[in-house]
Amino acid sequence: MSVIVSGMRPTGRLHLGHLHGALRNWARLQQEARCFFFVADWHALTTDPEHTDKIAASMLDMVADWLAVGLDPEKAVIFVQSAVKEHAELHLLLSMITPTPWLSRNPTVKEQARDLGLLGSEDDAEVMKLNYGLLGYPVLQSADVLLYKATGVPVGVDQAPHIELTREIARRFNNFYGDVFPEPDTILTEVPKVPGTDGRKMSKSYNNAVYLSDAPQDVDAKLSRMMTDPRRVRRTDAGEPNDCPAFNLHRIYCTPDEIDYVTTNCRTAGIGCLDCKKIMIKHVIAELTPIHERRASLRADDVTAVLEQGNLQARAAAAATMREVRGAIGLPVG
Ligand code: TRP
Ligand code: SF4
Repeated sequence: MSVIVSGMRPTGRLHLGHLHGALRNWARLQQEARCFFFVADWHALTTDPEHTDKIAASMLDMVADWLAVGLDPEKAVIFVQSAVKEHAELHLLLSMITPTPWLSRNPTVKEQARDLGLLGSEDDAEVMKLNYGLLGYPVLQSADVLLYKATGVPVGVDQAPHIELTREIARRFNNFYGDVFPEPDTILTEVPKVPGTDGRKMSKSYNNAVYLSDAPQDVDAKLSRMMTDPRRVRRTDAGEPNDCPAFNLHRIYCTPDEIDYVTTNCRTAGIGCLDCKKIMIKHVIAELTPIHERRASLRADDVTAVLEQGNLQARAAAAATMREVRGAIGLPVG
């Protein structure tokens, strides 16, 4: 039976990028495998240990969105990393067998550190000045995955180096102590490019996101203003869909007939950009409607109740693995 594990940092309300980049995939996987989906709250501390005031509320907002898109606590175990202390214990044990060069060469960690202004250059000496927890977070992530003996981890391509590390650590553990962990496969999410309203990648920090919880009129307003091919200055100027950020949303949302219609009429200036975007906006709003309905039907403590139940299930699975792990290493099992 395949076991799927994936986590998300508590980022608060989720947007269309999360929906197409991860959640749709998770919702599909929960139908066919044993799934563990969790809030990676400890991971939030790896990049921003000073600002912790929003973590708790962000976590609840995010899990409300998970449930709204159809993640189902009857099918998947939905829980919080920090509620299952075994993640920390396994992280500690894995850290004992992880050579630091496996960490300092990690391109994703370096990029994040650079984005945060923590890295002047990329030489090893600089990397070694990072916080221990930031440099080591892929080991924590490995523990997250191995604790449930995952066979597959759905992630975006930026996370692939971490799953590769997880496989290396699992291999080393199994060599040292005996076969305990499967080496999980990376399940690369085929991420369609989800542009934000300014044409850059959709992201909370760019202030260009359409949130799953945005009201239809806000979705309409945001996407109506969305950037298009800059060549279409006037209504009579022809454009090119392949140079139009908004058209990336058409690709995701529109029918083949609509795509043909838009492509032809963009190139001939047959329609204006606003009318063109309306065709796509209609689909976005239709997709969000059932998500809003489900979110509205959640009661105040539903999210907490889901997490409490999920934490119990995750703890049981984690405790079983840790007994095996301690036994394999030769530590007291109890
Ligand atoms: N590091 C991941 C991210 O930033 C989140 C994460 C933490 C994760 N633990 C994980 C993803 C385990 C997959 C499996 O997006
Ligand atoms: Fe983009 Fe449509 Fe305008 Fe062409 S007509 S530039 S595809 S919004």
